[in-house]
Amino acid sequence: MTSSRLSGFRDLDVEGRRATVAEQAGLGAADLGVLDPTRGLTLDQADHMIENVVGVMGLPFGVATNFTINGEDVLVPMVTEEPSVVAAASNSARIARVRGGFFTSSTAPLMQAQIQILGCADPAGARVRLLEAREELIEAANAQDPALISFGGGVHDLVVRLVESRAGTYVVAHLVVDVRDAMGANAVNTMAEAVAERAGRIAGGRTLLRILTNKADMRLARARAVFDSEALGGPEVVENIVHASALAESDPYRAATHNKGIMNGITAVVLATGNDTRAVEAGAHSHAVDERGRYAALSHFEKDADGHLTGVLELPMPVGLVGGATKVHPVARAAVRILAPPDARRLAEVVVATGLAQNLAALRALATEGIQRGHMSLHARNVAVSAGATGDEIEKVVARLVQDRAVRADHAETVLAELRGSSTPTSGGTA
Ligand code: MEV
Repeated sequence: MTSSRLSGFRDLDVEGRRATVAEQAGLGAADLGVLDPTRGLTLDQADHMIENVVGVMGLPFGVATNFTINGEDVLVPMVTEEPSVVAAASNSARIARVRGGFFTSSTAPLMQAQIQILGCADPAGARVRLLEAREELIEAANAQDPALISFGGGVHDLVVRLVESRAGTYVVAHLVVDVRDAMGANAVNTMAEAVAERAGRIAGGRTLLRILTNKADMRLARARAVFDSEALGGPEVVENIVHASALAESDPYRAATHNKGIMNGITAVVLATGNDTRAVEAGAHSHAVDERGRYAALSHFEKDADGHLTGVLELPMPVGLVGGATKVHPVARAAVRILAPPDARRLAEVVVATGLAQNLAALRALATEGIQRGHMSLHARNVAVSAGATGDEIEKVVARLVQDRAVRADHAETVLAELRGSSTPTSGGTA
């Protein structure tokens, strides 16, 4: 990657943007040909991915610019149906750049599988017997995945918890597995199923569930950035963003929306790279519950000693580069080629940096002019197209809708009819 600072990028046409991305990412133009809707996922490929296939659904694939992560420029592929998300991430990344961009870190890629054991006469004793059998159980689990072991992964630990429930005490054994560059669900589920019966015998109970936990709190990725006070709009904006963040840290009603804004960025990158969006979302929201059991903001913003805004975000990030749609879906493969992460940890860190950028953009808009002004002109495009506008008509209708402060389907139809020289509103739209 030469540079992610691509001025004028958004003014190019789609072909021009694709050629620029290919050039910056060191790819041939043909490498990104699959981004053309006619050359993406085929019906046959789709038919092998899920059941009862009757078609494929397209979504816009954009690229966020301006990102510098740990001193390296990166273009971030994003798939989303929501207008303004890609522009907002790029805008925040431009502000972060002033003070060095994003800085990231992550834990080892540790996933956990749970084995639920019922009906133990002596749960406390069962727990300790299982821990005594740690080596035996780990060896049996590792025997399931020689390839993972050869890449330096495998079971890292055995943890046993007692969970009190309305139906009694469950002994719950966790296999903690280093899954390397995989998302890891298949690896840990296979291991849990393989050792469950033996674990049940050792514990003196009956095993029931054997499945990973999406509360992937041993597989965390973090991002941090300093957002320059002047680039943000001045000290008052910094102050207001700190207040916006503080409300989300203390009020679950605000926290849910604040975190949704973070997920606008995160889900878009996770989806673009063919990873499991629901696994990431489950991990994120479970992580948003603090020690006191309250749902709170995933990110935190503070004013630093020099008056600039520091933002941090940390959450579970179970994303992989091998297996699943990441390898099968041609567009996901293209997204991975644009990003070119050396491993899954780096991908996880880019995803979290994008979430932080997205969050900052939303808070800055909310703490200043409000979200609607920026949203409305983008939303107006959808409204104009839905009303039937095509080609040059789109920008003309958008301009009128924004100018009239009436971004509505009926007004778009009236404006379009006027443009076309007829006073009867067109019924060409789908709105
Ligand atoms: C809209 O998709 C996301 C926001 O609501 C996030 C937020 O309120 O922080 C703007």
